Amino acid sequence: MRYTKWIAVLLCFLGMTACRQDTHRFRIGVAQCSDDSWRHKMNDEILREAMFYDGVSVEIRSAADDNRKQAEDVHYFIDKGVDLLIISANEAAPMTPIVEEAYQKGIPVILVDRKILSDKYTAYIGADNYEIGRAVGNYIASTLKGKGNVVELTGLGGSTPAMERHQGFMAAISNFPDIKLIDKADAAWERAPAEMAMDSILHRHPKIDAVYAHNDRIAPGAYQAAKKAGREKEMIFVGIDALPGKGNGLELVLDSVLDATFIYPTNGDKVLQLAMNILEAKPYPRETVMNTAVVDRTNAHVMQLQTTHISELDQKIETLNGRIGGYLSRVATQQVVLYGGLVILLLVAGLLVVVYNSLRSKNRLNKELSEQKRQLEEQRDKLEEQRDQLIQLSHQLEEATHAKLVFFTNISHDFRTPLTLVADPVEHLLADKALSDDQHRMLLLVQRNVNILLRLVNQILDFRKYENGKMEYTPVPVDILSSFEGWNESFQAAARKKHIHFSFDNIPDTDFRTLADVEKLERIYFNLLSNAFKFTPENGKVSVRLSTLTKEDNRWIRFTVSNTGSMISAEHIRNIFDRFYKIDMHHAGSGIGLALVKAFVELHGGAISVESDEKQGTVFTVDLPLRTCAYETSSLDPPASSVSEVSPLNDALPVEEELEKNYDSSKPSVLIIDD
Ligand code: FRU
Repeated sequence: MRYTKWIAVLLCFLGMTACRQDTHRFRIGVAQCSDDSWRHKMNDEILREAMFYDGVSVEIRSAADDNRKQAEDVHYFIDKGVDLLIISANEAAPMTPIVEEAYQKGIPVILVDRKILSDKYTAYIGADNYEIGRAVGNYIASTLKGKGNVVELTGLGGSTPAMERHQGFMAAISNFPDIKLIDKADAAWERAPAEMAMDSILHRHPKIDAVYAHNDRIAPGAYQAAKKAGREKEMIFVGIDALPGKGNGLELVLDSVLDATFIYPTNGDKVLQLAMNILEAKPYPRETVMNTAVVDRTNAHVMQLQTTHISELDQKIETLNGRIGGYLSRVATQQVVLYGGLVILLLVAGLLVVVYNSLRSKNRLNKELSEQKRQLEEQRDKLEEQRDQLIQLSHQLEEATHAKLVFFTNISHDFRTPLTLVADPVEHLLADKALSDDQHRMLLLVQRNVNILLRLVNQILDFRKYENGKMEYTPVPVDILSSFEGWNESFQAAARKKHIHFSFDNIPDTDFRTLADVEKLERIYFNLLSNAFKFTPENGKVSVRLSTLTKEDNRWIRFTVSNTGSMISAEHIRNIFDRFYKIDMHHAGSGIGLALVKAFVELHGGAISVESDEKQGTVFTVDLPLRTCAYETSSLDPPASSVSEVSPLNDALPVEEELEKNYDSSKPSVLIIDD
């Protein structure tokens, strides 16, 4: 927006500058009838005078004595919309309607020298042709001393000067009865027709005393014809115009071709002054009549001196005008250069402002960007630092966990042998019938706690095995339904003791036989149910549900272990299967049981999940793939629980059949005891 405003101001400025160079206040059209030296002089005077006025343009067209051409010229000026027309009508009658048209269209019209047959024009300026004709008549009559034959060669018959010059002449000679107009011919203002006409007149008239020529071009034509006939000395020649310059009237008088000529003033300067007065709404006369005077041998020389002087002055004026024109055009050029320079200067200044502003905003943006970059880098460094710390922490945690596990494993190894050594004698002692009830009870307590310790120790060792990828997976055909029903017996006592409603149900008429590692399955089941009983308050409910389902075209066995009265938060649920994860310090346990359950489930290719909410309590769901197999009915008998019967040493022993197969009694036997 800002820049558009600037550009608009500059354009206005340029526009104003351009307008100053190109203002035309007034346009003037000049429709000249003829193209001769008299007209040239008048045209020069008009143009020279126009230079003294500001903003005036003049266009001159010449009809070359042709009415049709002049009508075209006038229409051209009308169409162009000139402010004023100067017309010298070639012939009065044909030009009258055209001049009237221009006048009626509101264009001021000045008639110069030749008139029309109407008064519909703005002003007339010219000499009194009637008066000139009279002066010529009087001059001839007096020169011929009141007696003689005169021949008249007129201008174009239809032009008013020719008519008036004739009328004035006739009026003058009417006072001299012996002055006779013996012949008259139309020479159309030109030399050639004059010569021809005079030729025939000479043949017709043996005595001619004077030739009245309507202008100084007709006169020498007549003279030439007379000279050809050898009669030029017998008559006088009188012309009109008295123009200075080569071959013109003044020179003809000095050369004795003409006896006299009458001044017919061109006065182009006066014509233009009149035009300007009309255009500038100044007062002006409707008719301006210019004077005439005779030029003969008595004053021709002086006249020539004067006219030469005048033309020298005119020349000087022209030169001065030329110089002024040169100066003006130089000034105009300088003005253009100046304004152009100013505009460029303004543009450059504008550009500098723009560049300065953009540099400033660029710098500001750069600063902001660098600051943002610095902050981002700082944040990135912090994040990297935090990430490194987290990595380090997780390494430390991993190491700590590992160390914990190694430590627990080592401790477990150390604990297992003495625990086994405690368990065995306790079992023997319990078999003793001589024990009192108190002793028996106390020994049972010892046995239960030894078993708990052994179970923990075994769990840790198993988990270590699993982590090291050494956990064995020995699938055998098993009927899960009868196994679960068998294992449920072990929890009836706990249910009764805590008044817990323990229920087990399964989808009826369903085959739950599959391949599974029975020992690990048992550990999974016992662990989940032990936890359920542990966290269920008195009078709560523990339920197991066994079912099957199809997932992605595969058959699965699903069992859920749910209990009421305990709720695990979402945060704990996320981590519950992590090793050593404990919900809080108040919960007993090593935090390895559920991690091991998950490991065993995954060893079977299954999945375990947990959901917990206040309404339904906690539900563990275990999905195991249903694997079909060739059974032997005997192997499907529910196995006795091995969880309660602690036999840790069995874990690493090879299967009995295998031992028997490889047994060679001839070889010595070695007993290896591993802790
Ligand atoms: C010039 C001219 C003059 C003459 C005048 C009459 O064109 O022929 O010689 O005096 O016109 O209008």
